[in-house]
Amino acid sequence: MPDGYICYAPVMDNTYDLFVIGAGPGGYSAALLAARKGMKVGIAESSCLGGTCMNTGCIPTKAYAESIHLYRQINQAKRFGIEASASSLEPGALKKRKNRIVKRLTMGIEQLLCSAGVDIYRHRAKLLEDKRVLVDKKCIGASNILIATGSRPKIAPGFDRPGVMSSNDIFELEKTPESIGIIGAGVIGMEMAHIFDALGSRVSVFEAMDRILPMEDEMVSKELARIYRRVTFMAATRIHEIRSHETAGKNGFCIIGESRGNDIHEEVDALLVSTGRVPSPPDGIDAAGIAVNASNAIEVNGLMQTSARGIYAVGDVTGGHMLAYTATRQAEVVVNCLAGSQKQMDYRYIPSIIFTDPEIASVGQAGTNSVSGTFDVSALGRARTKGENHGFARIICDSSHKIQKVTLMCPNATELISLACLALEKGMDIEEFLGPVFAHPTMAEMLKEAADDVTGMSIHKPS
Ligand code: NAI
Repeated sequence: MPDGYICYAPVMDNTYDLFVIGAGPGGYSAALLAARKGMKVGIAESSCLGGTCMNTGCIPTKAYAESIHLYRQINQAKRFGIEASASSLEPGALKKRKNRIVKRLTMGIEQLLCSAGVDIYRHRAKLLEDKRVLVDKKCIGASNILIATGSRPKIAPGFDRPGVMSSNDIFELEKTPESIGIIGAGVIGMEMAHIFDALGSRVSVFEAMDRILPMEDEMVSKELARIYRRVTFMAATRIHEIRSHETAGKNGFCIIGESRGNDIHEEVDALLVSTGRVPSPPDGIDAAGIAVNASNAIEVNGLMQTSARGIYAVGDVTGGHMLAYTATRQAEVVVNCLAGSQKQMDYRYIPSIIFTDPEIASVGQAGTNSVSGTFDVSALGRARTKGENHGFARIICDSSHKIQKVTLMCPNATELISLACLALEKGMDIEEFLGPVFAHPTMAEMLKEAADDVTGMSIHKPS
């Protein structure tokens, strides 16, 4: 027995067909799917069911984004022929609504697990040797173990100051800071810039790469910087130190870095570090003989098998695509594998989605010798009826017009991208994609018009 732990209960070998550690989207999906396939399943979660996605990530961000959207709609009511105005958008009120949504969803997960017959252990689990797990002072045996313990925000040593926020803390704020610095203009940084800009903070975003959202199409970065006029974006700016300071009785932070050869020295009231996330494997991975890479991510093969036989890992803890829906798909791969399938995880057509205003979504990879078609939101009838005129769609194809990559920056982009995922997954070319009739007037016509533009046949694009 490893140091510091006492095993009070006798070892019960193979108590479970599958024991899952971590109840985020990867873990709870695997538990539910395995139970539905008739397996005896246990799951351990030391914090809230639903993981980062449900408690401090995807769901809270979208709850705030919806409140912001409604607030802005109300304040634009006059443009829609309505007399109305909203006077207050306060983090405290948004937080209350978010808490209600999260509570309902986490209760839903608990009910699903219980009704599927999954045993829930509300404790931290530690891996032991020989496919055993120590949880709630019990030593549990399982034929298979799934690690789905997620990730945590990456905070560099120079950034680790009291009061500095990560995405875990941001949804606890009760008041809008007058000014906020955001280090990192990736997905979290941009979604937070959107939220704090709407709340009325003076927002400054610092990004080490030469443009914001460096992993997206360059057109997205340019358009976003143009739309968020009030936000100060400092690209090619690497921050290396944060100091706490007090000015006129007010606490704040001094951000120190370097931008194109010049020293940077910015003062802000609040500070968010969104410079990525790091995997967070459970205790005992050494004892269990599980290999991790240099980033502490658990190494897995295409079936999500770790280096230890019968132990699988899914989600952020495996590094790479740190996305809830990737974890869910990986969970499906694991459960199917346990049921005898050899179908491997396929990462080629996983969409990227960003909840700014307008939303951004993309899927696929552009190759060489490509041709592309674009269409602007401002030219689309349905977008105009929504009062929207920012953004575009872009479809990139190879020389035979097979679709390689789709980027959307428009209302409902995060919904529409699924259509593009289907097209890429099925290996469609432009002719096949344009086979079905697209209803009018709809936002989906962004895709139709961009696809038509690949061959110069977009009806509503000026030639
Ligand atoms: P990220 O990797 O997307 O972006 C981090 C950014 O910080 C990078 O652009 C990097 O160049 C910059 N950076 C790093 N160190 C810096 C420094 N010292 N000074 C200035 N800039 C610096 O990471 P992020 O935004 O923290 O997100 C973490 C993970 O969570 C990602 O894998 C993301 O995909 C996932 N996520 C996905 C969401 C979605 O799908 N809507 C929402 C939120 C998170």
